[in-house]
Amino acid sequence: MRVLIVYASWFGHNREVARVIADRLSPYASHVICAPVTSVTASDTIGCDLLVLGSFTHAHHASWRMRHLVETIPERRFKRMAIAVFGTQTVNERPSSIDDLVSLLAKRGARLVVPPLRVILSAPDFVPWSSITSAERAKIDAFAQSLVHQLELETVSR
Ligand SMILES: Cc1cc2nc3c(=O)[nH]c(=O)nc-3n(C[C@H](O)[C@H](O)[C@H](O)COP(=O)(O)O)c2cc1C
Repeated sequence: MRVLIVYASWFGHNREVARVIADRLSPYASHVICAPVTSVTASDTIGCDLLVLGSFTHAHHASWRMRHLVETIPERRFKRMAIAVFGTQTVNERPSSIDDLVSLLAKRGARLVVPPLRVILSAPDFVPWSSITSAERAKIDAFAQSLVHQLELETVSR
């Protein structure tokens, strides 16, 4: 099983979430790559079984690089990959990066295998020096656990 986790992060929160997910999935997959969206292109998703995408929210949208990545992956490849999405936002309102990516992925015919993970950062006025609360960490753990479950199911069905 090949897993690619791609994150867009200005201030490090999505990188941190991505690394937690990568650590959790590593024992259950032959390859786990965790990389910033700046170093990933659509061709890096060739042969990928599970693609996990995470982005900050800026002005209610996901990173344009992440959107571009999703737009450039061929639709036929989306049919063979399982997809999961996470993202951070400082205001618990919609739309956010997740809503943006989920609707874009739906247009591309992608299959979300678990509900998206919405991490709310306790950062008024978008200040960058927020930390991820223990309540949000519990959500990250649960998300990673549901991905582990998906990997186990996919392995059994092969
Ligand atoms: C220019 C800018 C615009 C932002 N717009 C929003 C927004 O519309 N909604 C929101 O909840 N947070 C917004 N934020 C806060 C970011 O979502 C937050 O900094 C980000 O999720 C942190 O993730 P990162 O550490 O991975 O960059 C904004 C932050 C910046 C710098």
